[in-house]
Amino acid sequence: MKLFRHAADLIEWRRENRLLSVGFVPTMGALHNGHISLIEKAKSENPLVVCSIFVNPTQFNNADDLKRYPRTPEQDLAMLAAAGCDVVFMPDEAEIYPAAPQMQLNFGNLEEVMEGSHRPGHFNGVGLVVSKLFHMVQPDRAYFGQKDLQQFLIIKRLVADLSFPVQLVCCPVVREADGLAMSSRNVRLSAEARLQAPALYRALTEAQQRITQGENPQMVCSEITRRLNETGIFSVEYLTLADTETLASVQSPQAGMEYALCIAAFLDGVRLIDNVVFRM
Ligand code: PAJ
Repeated sequence: MKLFRHAADLIEWRRENRLLSVGFVPTMGALHNGHISLIEKAKSENPLVVCSIFVNPTQFNNADDLKRYPRTPEQDLAMLAAAGCDVVFMPDEAEIYPAAPQMQLNFGNLEEVMEGSHRPGHFNGVGLVVSKLFHMVQPDRAYFGQKDLQQFLIIKRLVADLSFPVQLVCCPVVREADGLAMSSRNVRLSAEARLQAPALYRALTEAQQRITQGENPQMVCSEITRRLNETGIFSVEYLTLADTETLASVQSPQAGMEYALCIAAFLDGVRLIDNVVFRM
């Protein structure tokens, strides 16, 4: 496995391998089996796989969250080598941002809901860094997790609007045995909070069941939100039934249509998100 810290070296490697298709998995490191599932999917579809590890400062709207973001580079490299990754790109901040970016991306309605409304500037930072990484890696396919459903839709918009010649692949959410969606932030949970954390996925599955049985989505979501908040352990930012293309909130779901139930909540000072996609 090759490790590049400079974009110029990566670009030179890509030029030497220009006839082979590259699958690309962008990450912020602190890798877990969710990330590795993307590497494996990329490997099954491309002769070469590139993974980037870069904790992108421009997508953090909270300085403390950036400072406390877990960093485990040695363990990450061992996991990627074991998964058969071909190239790791691990740049430092100056390599990606030689100057403070001035450009602002606007994703319209897509960034006005859920993560966009609770994390101002977040998707501008994601869009910037993914654009830069796409230019440097020049992937044929890029792999993202459904765990960050809104991020996937934002990247889809970015690729369409800027005509990036890359095919996007959305991969299913990988969960712990108790249902908690894997996340780099899970290691920041206290032992007690970690025991409570699966309640988020249970909330999603309960809401899904009740909504498919015909209950009113808004009433179901506000009741489950109230119950989670009343524990005193969770602080729910949103729990919404959304259209899977626009993420607009849905009041009257139609039989046969696909929807996403999305949740974000603070637990023990750690912000967790999760979602389930289902058909009515
Ligand atoms: P990061 O949070 O490290 O996630 C990297 C990729 O792994 C994302 O596409 C994310 O959706 C996926 N992922 C995370 N947890 C997952 C899980 N439990 N199951 C399946 N996939 C999972 O997302 C980012 O980094 C950054 O925003 C990035 C795109 C790298 C831009 O900085």
